[in-house]
Amino acid sequence: MSATCWQPSLRVSAGAGLGQPGGGGRSPGGRGPVPPVLPVLTLNNARLQLGGAWVLRDIVLSIRPGERVALVGANGSGKSTLLRLMHGLLLPTEGERLAQPGCLQAMLFQRPHMLRTSALNNVALALWLRRGWWRWGAWSASVALAHQALAQVGLLDQAHKPAKTLSGGQQQRLALARCCSFGPDLLLLDEPTASLDPHAKRDVEALIAELGQTKTLVFASHNLGQVKRLATRVLYLEQGRVLADLPVHEFFNGQVLPRRYPEAHLFVQGETT
Ligand SMILES: Nc1ncnc2c1ncn2[C@@H]1O[C@H](COP(=O)(O)OP(=O)(O)OP(=O)(O)O)[C@@H](O)[C@H]1O
Ligand SMILES: [Mg+2]
Repeated sequence: MSATCWQPSLRVSAGAGLGQPGGGGRSPGGRGPVPPVLPVLTLNNARLQLGGAWVLRDIVLSIRPGERVALVGANGSGKSTLLRLMHGLLLPTEGERLAQPGCLQAMLFQRPHMLRTSALNNVALALWLRRGWWRWGAWSASVALAHQALAQVGLLDQAHKPAKTLSGGQQQRLALARCCSFGPDLLLLDEPTASLDPHAKRDVEALIAELGQTKTLVFASHNLGQVKRLATRVLYLEQGRVLADLPVHEFFNGQVLPRRYPEAHLFVQGETT
């Protein structure tokens, strides 16, 4: 059954080299091995049944700190459901989800829900509830932090506008500010630039790239160009299974994919032609 506690016996293999996300290997001075880095999230043979059907099957994966993992696959392949499972909004019917204790995570939904209040309040209210509304001075501290969060996404000049009147790209940036305002270590993003115009897409993508410098990312995307630009690792899903799990350069390598993962190769060809 599902569990959210960490099992110390689970370790990441020290396969990745120095400078790679989650890399183990030798200490910077070359003075001996450094301890392996614990994954921020692990799914162990996770399976999920919804409405009587298996929508995720046999998911075995670990997300290491600093990785930027792209989920790709056709409509209905299970990307959003996998993100919800990773975030703990859905519990596996079988298998387990293990989250590193103390690792804060946040999720951005494809269509962010804006409260009927100002952009500033959308962030401040989330912070206020999260940081303990009953504490003395909580509201003014939340408002100050919300100002900082809006400044980081370039929306300070929109702070007092009703959030629902902002453009799609601005709402997406506001949702990112709200997600990041409490300093999550792991960000789960469901098609963060879908339905944005090319200009807003570039804007939001640049913001995600910047966030990816300090945070672990898992994002679903149909935009393979974006996957190439942002991801360090790609998971290809089909009918609720992860059929390919590769470093980004191997996923887009015309030699590796067709030979080892023909289904993923067909998908990439279909998306790029
Ligand atoms: N609450 C639910 N009850 C029953 N089936 C569900 C439920 N939620 C999702 N599913 C099914 O799970 C499958 C995967 O859906 P999901 O939304 O994860 O796909 P996706 O890869 O995100 O697709 P898209 O690219 O269109 O966003 C679909 O067949 C969907 O019908
Ligand atoms: Mg989806």
